[in-house]
Amino acid sequence: MAKMWAGRTDGILNKDADDFNSSISFDKKMYKQDILGSIAHSQMLAQKNIISFDDAEKIANGLAGILDDIQNGKLDFSPDAEDIHMFVEEQLIKRIGDVGKKLHTARSRNDQVALDLRMYLKDESKKISSLLLNLIEVIKNQAAKNIYTVMPGYTHLQRAQPISFAHHLLAYAQMFKRDYSRITDWKKRTNLSPLGSCALAGTTYDTDRNMVAKALGFDGVTANSIDGVSDRDFCVELLSALSLIMTHLSRFSEEIILWSSWEFKFVELDDAFTTGSSIMPQKKNSDMAELVRGKTGRVYGDLMAMLTMLKGLPLAYNKDMQEDKEAVFDGVETVEKCLTVFVPMVDTMKVLKDNMLSAAQKGFINATDLADYLTKKGMPFRTAYKIVGQIVAKCVKENIILDEIPLSEYKKISDLFEQDLYGEISLAACVEKRISEGGTGPKSVEKQIADLEVFLKNEKDIY
Ligand code: ARG
Repeated sequence: MAKMWAGRTDGILNKDADDFNSSISFDKKMYKQDILGSIAHSQMLAQKNIISFDDAEKIANGLAGILDDIQNGKLDFSPDAEDIHMFVEEQLIKRIGDVGKKLHTARSRNDQVALDLRMYLKDESKKISSLLLNLIEVIKNQAAKNIYTVMPGYTHLQRAQPISFAHHLLAYAQMFKRDYSRITDWKKRTNLSPLGSCALAGTTYDTDRNMVAKALGFDGVTANSIDGVSDRDFCVELLSALSLIMTHLSRFSEEIILWSSWEFKFVELDDAFTTGSSIMPQKKNSDMAELVRGKTGRVYGDLMAMLTMLKGLPLAYNKDMQEDKEAVFDGVETVEKCLTVFVPMVDTMKVLKDNMLSAAQKGFINATDLADYLTKKGMPFRTAYKIVGQIVAKCVKENIILDEIPLSEYKKISDLFEQDLYGEISLAACVEKRISEGGTGPKSVEKQIADLEVFLKNEKDIY
């Protein structure tokens, strides 16, 4: 069938070229935004006397009917349509006749697609923001149960210093909180309507872009019509924020996978979030966490695809830009799927406190505290550091831990050692003494939890 834009040509494409050109298979996702955008546009056209109120009403009713039919499964997207915009317009004309042909006055597909995509991503970002809040909440709840759970903190994946499991978890809460704020921030720049930019230069009609923007929940309109149709920064920015979410999820996943191994055994995932092996009967694999880690690459790829697609484009619209959607849709959907599984997985994760403690008892992770003990009694830190290093070396040789050396032995090394050293280097004390702001001490951890509660309460009110 000839295209609606036939005229300059007969509008009949080579079959393969037609399929190649078509974007309906993926941009059909934006049907709702496309229809709502068109309703708002037609109402503005009437308000501004560009079309009659009667026509606007017919158009709005026709469009509402199309929306209903799609939502109720009564109308299928035609795979032959060029894109969602043409599909909806063709349907409208089919249903209400020539009046439907007035809808596209003072508009172009270029500003229409830019509008639809912004609206669609705004809607999706709400889901992501709310999933992030859920994740922060379950992390906070797990943390609240583990303020006194001692585990080894690591650097270089070597046991370093004792920390509470709560403190470790709360590090992730901070990452996801920043991720959340990045999306909030993104919305401020994205929430401007490009509609009315038309093909690139604006229009000769006396339109009211702000009226449409307001009706669709935008804060205002884009300032330059060429930029309005050429800009895909909002896709890049969103994908960059999504990439960071995936980075954080991936690091967390990696730790959960390690912690679930027999070598660590710090946590056990609920059966509902693990899989077995088809051959090894003993296996309980953390596939969900592995998949999240694995899917991180896709989202980075989506970001790269978007940046690369844009880099050489002259202003204004070029068909290359049709490639924006699959990348940004994939990024959004991947993050949504990952978060949807990740939140309950963390929520139901069992913490094996005894195993964490016994790992903390090995590895001399209280050595810094022993050096601090001497330093607080007047020995320069570097000297204390060296002495304790030598004590550790001796312990390694004798296969004992610092807490097992008798005081008489300690006294031979330095007179500054007294009975109280044992209390000072006990693991619980090592954690409790880390009173500095943002440290692993229980007061700091409780404050972090309380601050998160306030944050969650304020933000949840928004959703
Ligand atoms: N399907 C197109 C896209 O996604 C819509 C815009 C088409 N504009 C045009 N001038 N051909 O980019």
